[in-house]
Amino acid sequence: MTQELTVQLAGTKREKPDQANLGFGRIFTDHMFMMDYTEGQGWHDARIVPYQPIALDPSAMVFHYGQTVFEGMKAYLTKEGRVFLFRPEKNMERLNRSNERLCIPQIDGDYAIEGLKKLIDIDREWIPTAEGTSLYVRPFIIATEPFLGVAPAKNYTFMIIMSPVGLYYKEGIAPVKILVENDFVRAVKGGTGEAKTGGNYAASLKGQEIASEKNYSQVLWLDGVERKYIEEVGSMNVFFKIDGEVITPELNGSILHGVTRDSVIQLLKHWNIPVAERRISMDEVAEAYRNGKLEEAFGTGTAAIISPIGEFLWNDEKMVLNGGKTGELSKRIYDTITSIQKGAQKDEFGWIT
Ligand code: COI
Repeated sequence: MTQELTVQLAGTKREKPDQANLGFGRIFTDHMFMMDYTEGQGWHDARIVPYQPIALDPSAMVFHYGQTVFEGMKAYLTKEGRVFLFRPEKNMERLNRSNERLCIPQIDGDYAIEGLKKLIDIDREWIPTAEGTSLYVRPFIIATEPFLGVAPAKNYTFMIIMSPVGLYYKEGIAPVKILVENDFVRAVKGGTGEAKTGGNYAASLKGQEIASEKNYSQVLWLDGVERKYIEEVGSMNVFFKIDGEVITPELNGSILHGVTRDSVIQLLKHWNIPVAERRISMDEVAEAYRNGKLEEAFGTGTAAIISPIGEFLWNDEKMVLNGGKTGELSKRIYDTITSIQKGAQKDEFGWIT
């Protein structure tokens, strides 16, 4: 797809936020990228415009049946003043996999990355540089056709918005407390768990709300059939270190193909640390804990990168890991990935654009 990208710059630039208090996802840069899809015509009208509200028909299909997909990635400004993106082609690949599942037309990932580069260049002053900060990039697609029938829409809009962010979890790299969820499930095989689509996140809210009331940060999701095998933690992939081996649930059709998950597996292999992608049950984790073999557990995702787990509550059994402190491996992975992302460490993996 080769189409012209038009640029309309904002008349006034907004004041940049205090980098010490960015939080996550509440502040947006001056511009955004948009393009539209019309059946028969394909994607068209690629443009960068000032960040602003958009007008949609109340009958736009996204509001009714949730036909939408999104991605998340991060941009960093290196000490040398270069802008680094972490594995953006993986996100575009996954966006198209999500599109396939949600019956949304494919986008040209390379073209979207070119649009993103231009957008970041225009808003590069918004990339924060304080420790632990980055520019979070949120590409997403919504079904815009005004129609109440249940069918794939004929019109869509693809957008990229960007937000200077600090830590996703207020705990940062400090361990979080996790409640093992026995009642609600996040996804089932054959469902939409592999797709990055809004409905998965909406479905996760109730369990999350109940966990918060009990003073737990996140829930550990078990499989939707037997409620036995571990799937994800909160909105992240999950890893366990048991007796020297690192185990993460295999991609079984209901688990998100995490870009950070993939990067962690590559890193572990590079370090010659045994790593397995396989089914792992809560029984196995609890057994390892009781035998003193559960060394660490952590979540992985773009937003938080690594989120160590300090405690699990499963039924009535409380398991405290590492005395509630951040494990050595969690810290090593976090430091390595963030150093590569910021250009402070050589990228031996070809992850940086
Ligand atoms: C991530 O961990 O990057 C996520 O997908 C969370 C996001 C929904 C904010």
